Amino acid sequence: MNKRYFITFEGGEGAGKTSLIESIQKYLLDKDLKFISTREPGGTSFGEHIRNLLLQEKKGMKMSSKAELCLFLASRAQHIKEVIKPALDENKIVLSDRYNDSSVAYQGHARGLGIDAVIKFSSYIIEDAIPDLTLYLDIDPKIGLSRVQTKYDRIESETIEFHQKIREGFHILAEKFPQRIKIIDAQKSKKDVFDSSINYIAKLIS
Ligand SMILES: Nc1ncnc2c1ncn2[C@@H]1O[C@H](COP(=O)(O)OP(=O)(O)O)[C@@H](O)[C@H]1O
Ligand SMILES: [Mg+2]
Repeated sequence: MNKRYFITFEGGEGAGKTSLIESIQKYLLDKDLKFISTREPGGTSFGEHIRNLLLQEKKGMKMSSKAELCLFLASRAQHIKEVIKPALDENKIVLSDRYNDSSVAYQGHARGLGIDAVIKFSSYIIEDAIPDLTLYLDIDPKIGLSRVQTKYDRIESETIEFHQKIREGFHILAEKFPQRIKIIDAQKSKKDVFDSSINYIAKLIS
């Protein structure tokens, strides 16, 4: 019997989140487990509009850190209501490419709104939609960014110091929530990253 599990994938740009999720989908399909795979920002029609607002570089457009946080949370609120909760209610495994820890690391730590402030503010939005397991793909941002093949979006174009702060933010979170967040060395090969990740997933769903 398939049980409900909410698994999120976090990490900086080019850490390998999307590639890892693709391999995990194959693993779950082979095991005949029911799952959905989704992403943030986005995951719903409204959320994908918000994603475009967040990631597009528009000349002369300013976005304050708080406005940015609110957009990510708006996308998340819709995502939880329309996609995540219904799938969990159908006893599916939910895989999400990014979730709330990204808001805490990016807006809370790197943008400087405060880790605890963002955790508190976002708790109103996420309520009990808390992941059972979060795999944080840890990588030196210089290596991560060098893997990104496409033109950098608004956030990828930030300074290297900003990306280092993001990494620092994720480490603070991993220390704060060691039961939920597991650190995966994303500088290793795709196979090694998959093997370490699947260990945690197998333990969770067994
Ligand atoms: N462990 C790895 N080692 C080397 N290259 C990788 C690894 N994982 C992913 N890549 C490559 O790096 C690029 C970015 O990976 P992606 O999964 O899109 O990262 P993310 O979704 O975290 O931004 C892709 O071209 C992918 O094939
Ligand atoms: Mg990706």
